[in-house]
Amino acid sequence: MLEALEALEQRREAARAGGGEKRVAAQHAKGKLTARERLDVFLDEGSFEELDMYVEHNCVDFGMPAQVVPGDGVVTGSGTVNGRLVYVFSQDFTVFGGSLSERHAQKICKIMDMAMKVGAPVIGLNDSGGARIQEGVASLGGYAEVFQRNVLASGVVPQLSLIMGPCAGGAVYSPAMTDFIFMVKDSSYMFVTGPDVVKTVTNEVVTQEELGGAITHTTKSSVADCAFENDIEALLAARDFVDFLPANNRSGVPARPSDDPWDRIEPSLDTLIPPSANQPYDMHELIVRTLDDGEFFELQPAHAGNIIIGFGRIEGRTVGIVANQPMVLAGCLDINSSKKAARFVRFCDAFEIPIVTFVDVPGFLPGVGQEHSGIIKHGAKLLFAYAEATVPKITVITRKAYGGAYDVMASKHLRGDLNYAWPTAEIAVMGAKGAVEIIFRSKDPEEVAARTAEYEARFANPFVAASKGFIDEVILPHSTRRRVALGLRKLRNKKLENPWKKHDNIPL
Ligand code: HXC
Repeated sequence: MLEALEALEQRREAARAGGGEKRVAAQHAKGKLTARERLDVFLDEGSFEELDMYVEHNCVDFGMPAQVVPGDGVVTGSGTVNGRLVYVFSQDFTVFGGSLSERHAQKICKIMDMAMKVGAPVIGLNDSGGARIQEGVASLGGYAEVFQRNVLASGVVPQLSLIMGPCAGGAVYSPAMTDFIFMVKDSSYMFVTGPDVVKTVTNEVVTQEELGGAITHTTKSSVADCAFENDIEALLAARDFVDFLPANNRSGVPARPSDDPWDRIEPSLDTLIPPSANQPYDMHELIVRTLDDGEFFELQPAHAGNIIIGFGRIEGRTVGIVANQPMVLAGCLDINSSKKAARFVRFCDAFEIPIVTFVDVPGFLPGVGQEHSGIIKHGAKLLFAYAEATVPKITVITRKAYGGAYDVMASKHLRGDLNYAWPTAEIAVMGAKGAVEIIFRSKDPEEVAARTAEYEARFANPFVAASKGFIDEVILPHSTRRRVALGLRKLRNKKLENPWKKHDNIPL
């Protein structure tokens, strides 16, 4: 009996050793943690239950039978984050570069299937050289099995990918189909083809970091949501992030006690809007003063800054925030901001997270570049996302809500549940100057000035919209948190269903 126990312990030790001391040292030398060290940081202490520790690859080519490492390059199982169940896989770069074999893929698929059955998030810690080259098509099949599950899990359980090393070739497509991607600066990168292939095909010379590093993907491409300095920072942020996420699409949002009074008054908001309509202000001020304890987990902060998205809590319950940012491009909607917010709105809707929208938008960004790049179709994404969303939607217009962008930003007409405006709101087809230049084009300057003043007096306020019932109430800025909290409380049991359909056809 004791021998059997010892043999088991030896097997466990062999699996825990991964690719061996030399490769572990190389991993550390790159500033990276090992697969197991990462799980130690990410999961609650002692909560990890490993599965499939003894799985081995089944490759018989290229001398592979002599190179077998139990676990086959990925550590899988379940654990808790602040007491809440999650399923995890953590690729072990010290074993064949974390490359994905048929069996490695089967392990990932198994925990994805379990997560789907019990309704828990899937968190992937990716550090992999891609398809296991020795296995050929078996490995490609393995990837496709994972992809298929990513798609079936989408909208059912939250999926978060941390990219903590290379992620090349088809390997990028599994993270790309998950809900959120976090990257680590200087040690992680994602690309379909690496710098060498790029050089051969297009003659462009580019480094790995420039082509697909964390900065590139969180600023230019928007493939990733957040960039962190190192593994530990990324893993701890992921723990905080998971706290905001519902377990699944039927669980409802997580709730926790909050000491922050729901009716907290914020006098500073009464002077947030500058005297001149053209002067910017930082919309983050309103966001943090509305949320519990000022805690806001912003996503994609370095991309399309003209719109702000992220999670916070009100009365201890998760809300999604979407807000125009007057400090960037005057808060205009353009292609990037529309895409950024649309995907976020859809995530919130899929997981029953109420959406709070703060509006200060002068319209869609004009320009040849925007038109030729398809602002019509991309802007429609946000419109579509808000219109199909059935979760509680509360909107607060702080200043401008002009033109089509007024409609788009969770207006009453798109089934906004509570549409508030501050007294400083201006809700109109366009700004007074632009409007008068069109309808009184041939008039002399004096009349144009008079008409502009007339247009401003008539439309640069929230009361025309309020008189039609498009705005439910004009509220004092300092009471925004109280109004939003009360609204969310009343909307907690909201029931709204869209007509039956197989699925919609959002303008992709
Ligand atoms: C098998 C691999 C591997 C792979 C790395 N290794 N990638 N083994 N299959 N794909 C092994 C190496 O042989 C080495 O083994 C160990 O992992 C570490 O690799 P190094 O090259 O020494 O590390 P480093 O210098 O850090 O470079 C990492 C790397 C590089 C950039 C990831 O290894 C690399 O370019 N790998 C190949 C990437 C690739 O082309 N993958 C296939 C993509 S196509 P030892 O024994 O020396 O420790 C693809 C198709 C999927 O993924 C399609 C799905 C739709």
